[in-house]
Amino acid sequence: MKITVAESAGFCFGVKRAVEECFHQIENADGPVYTFGPIIHNDQVVEELNRKGVQVIYSEEELEQVHRGVIIIRSHGVPERIQKKMESLGVKVVDATCPFVKKIHTIVRKAGEEGKTVIIAGSPDHPEVQGIMGWAAGPVYAVQSAEEMERLELPARTEAVLVAQTTFHAGKFEDIVDIFRKKEYYNSVNNTVCSATDKRQTEAREIAQQVDAMVVIGGRHSSNTRKLYEICMEECKNTYFIETLVDLDTKPFQSFSHVGITAGASTPKSIIEEVHRKMSEEQTFQEMLDSSFKTVRNGEVVEGTVIDVKPDQ
Ligand code: F3S
Repeated sequence: MKITVAESAGFCFGVKRAVEECFHQIENADGPVYTFGPIIHNDQVVEELNRKGVQVIYSEEELEQVHRGVIIIRSHGVPERIQKKMESLGVKVVDATCPFVKKIHTIVRKAGEEGKTVIIAGSPDHPEVQGIMGWAAGPVYAVQSAEEMERLELPARTEAVLVAQTTFHAGKFEDIVDIFRKKEYYNSVNNTVCSATDKRQTEAREIAQQVDAMVVIGGRHSSNTRKLYEICMEECKNTYFIETLVDLDTKPFQSFSHVGITAGASTPKSIIEEVHRKMSEEQTFQEMLDSSFKTVRNGEVVEGTVIDVKPDQ
């Protein structure tokens, strides 16, 4: 079985930076280490950090109980109001917001200060989008599709600025842009889909077009992994979404001769390697048939013949 692993699979720059910051703080912090929300959408990494003492804060109420140690802001960022609250607690705040997300915070803040409305192409439930909304200094909306963009009606003479969640589906963003440009309140488009996401999605699509089956590895809550899954499904109906090796049922793969592997931005390299190793050990049905008709005589492979092997005399 031929296996193609996407070069872009696994931790992106921003996730790697945030996770490394956690390990650095475990070694060096003066007091307990907290993250505001799980540092990444990967249970295995979060559990490992938890075993090393990193605690996750899930709400503002929990945040208010913290009075010493270090709080790490994950790569998704947080609303300005939450960041200010952290800083008011008298603890050390380490901002691991990805610089690409920080750039969006700057765009939306400036837009608000100029009296413009912000539209975010993204999921309003996603922490990154909630963080972006919290930096907008004026009206802000989130739309997830061209249809939602179409339905969005803003007051006359509104000037609107469009940005994207960094992990938004690049094709869907283009569809939203098309509708946005036709609206009379159109002001400016900022394609803030991050280059790591763009590269990952493009590569996943290219591989999915060439293979018999695709394996997409990532956390169940990881929105960028779900988008990779959607893209691969568009190109290859035999696409499987797994979180770890435990979820991998290799039986269907016996009928595939070329399999692709990609992974979300919060999938550790170790999990990708495990899956790759396991897949490499799998034989296709044809390979099994072939090998059952192979035997060795005097050190030579004799194919397609069943030979009586006599005991040594
Ligand atoms: Fe940053 Fe892009 Fe990763 S925005 S967190 S490098 S997906």
